[in-house]
Amino acid sequence: MTKRPRRNRKNSVVRSHIRETHLSTDHLIYPLFLLDGNNKKIEIESMPDIFRLSLDNILKEVESCLQLGIRTFVLFPAVEESLKDKTATYSYQKGNFYCAAISSIKKHFPEACIMTDVAMDPYSSDGHDGLVENGQILNDETLPILVKMSVAQAEAGADIIGPSDMMDGRVGAIRNGLDANGFENVAIMSYTAKYASAFYGPFRDALDSAPKSGDKKTYQMDPANKYESLIEAELDYTEGADYLMVKPASLYLDVIHLLKENYQVPIAAYNISGEYSMVKAAALKGWLDYEAAMSEMLLSIKRAGADVILTYFAKDYARLGK
Ligand code: PBG
Repeated sequence: MTKRPRRNRKNSVVRSHIRETHLSTDHLIYPLFLLDGNNKKIEIESMPDIFRLSLDNILKEVESCLQLGIRTFVLFPAVEESLKDKTATYSYQKGNFYCAAISSIKKHFPEACIMTDVAMDPYSSDGHDGLVENGQILNDETLPILVKMSVAQAEAGADIIGPSDMMDGRVGAIRNGLDANGFENVAIMSYTAKYASAFYGPFRDALDSAPKSGDKKTYQMDPANKYESLIEAELDYTEGADYLMVKPASLYLDVIHLLKENYQVPIAAYNISGEYSMVKAAALKGWLDYEAAMSEMLLSIKRAGADVILTYFAKDYARLGK
């Protein structure tokens, strides 16, 4: 035999020569769940070791993450039912606890990069990402609400706006709204190919944000479709998205790869709650090696073409010191 591929695998040094994919904390974005109030730390039942935190505890969490080399955070609000209404007015109310938290994190840690979530669901009494009328999710009527939410977040000091709602035309509307208010340097990471996934369940527990009726299939994509993501990507790209995101991540590696091959903007992937909980639960039962399984999952997402990964594993991965 003249070719023996095993020669290049014979020890760890040689294996490191030929390693094609590298993943560091630079590539990770850590999601944080924010509660109003003080001194609160509540574990999410379906996401062991992940907590809903009040701002004082979020600041401590951000500090410890920065020490580990995680510098980018995406913030999600858990909003009390009494503050929710049909039009999600609380989402853009001056000084709401979400925007106040963004400002406070940026004040304490200017080096932290803060990404937001833009969608109506955490603030909507219907639990949908858009405005609901007669059981329909209205598209164009939702856009001004998303724009107001985005501008409020930019005013609070957000670095990256993350529209996760999947309404048509929202990236362009948000870009115009940001620019018109002097926020041309605030970026948009668009949830471009966001699938109607069963694996969002634990996240909806975390925020109490599950739809009160119906499902999200008229706006989120059908898991059966790959090439349809190119339509979404083309729109988001031309409307001015700075990053294109695929979500979920590990079940949609083909979609990540497709967008990476076709677009010259960074590709993000959201390694979502259900992906985290599957690995975590199996590890807690002793069925999987947590560190190895997590590393393999994240590496596979990177190998498929993701430049950055939003993941609940970020802190645990950083602790491995890879
Ligand atoms: C909704 C939103 C969802 C997630 C992020 N933003 C869930 C949904 O569409 O219902 C899911 C994240 C996760 O599961 O980790 N705007």
